[in-house]
Amino acid sequence: MKNEMEKDILKVLYSEEEIRARVQEMGNALGEQFQGKNPLFLGVLKGSFVFMSDLVRACPVKSDVEFIAVSSYGNGTESSGRVKIVHDIQQDITGRNVIVVEDILDSGNTLAFLKEYFLTKGASAITIVTLLDKPSRRKKAITADYAGFVVPDEFVVGYGLDYGQKYRNLPYIGVLKPEVYAE
Ligand code: PRP
Repeated sequence: MKNEMEKDILKVLYSEEEIRARVQEMGNALGEQFQGKNPLFLGVLKGSFVFMSDLVRACPVKSDVEFIAVSSYGNGTESSGRVKIVHDIQQDITGRNVIVVEDILDSGNTLAFLKEYFLTKGASAITIVTLLDKPSRRKKAITADYAGFVVPDEFVVGYGLDYGQKYRNLPYIGVLKPEVYAE
């Protein structure tokens, strides 16, 4: 069956195969770092849900998973700078090695806020893992410990990333046609 989202995509930036290979590399690297350390993978919803599910399966250590849902973009393309917790973590993270999993690090507002928040909640160490890093847009002094791909300042969707809540289920990462978000 033809994918009805494809007509809105200008070009594929990272194919399913490229993503799979890179996620496996990241999983292996995290496995080396966290073997025997019982890390907590903490996914930032909604964008991270696809990456998170692949990453935890690519990382061969005993770990557990948790989620937090935040929002700072509303339906727009510019971060408001105000990070709102939509759904909070449901467990005590005191003393835990927390691996924060993001789909994209853009202005840095979200991760700067969350890093502080998880430290306040008692995490002993925070490791930031993002699939995509867009350093050209950074407003906060924050860097990822692991970044899958460094991306140019283009409107990317797929593999969890949305535009107006759509396209998250594209299996690859693509650039959206400008006419789609100009509508
Ligand atoms: C996106 C993305 C990150 C954040 C990154 O979330 O998933 O959480 O923006 O941008 P920043 O570095 O400029 O803060 P969004 O608020 O769009 O919500 P979503 O995850 O539900 O798509």
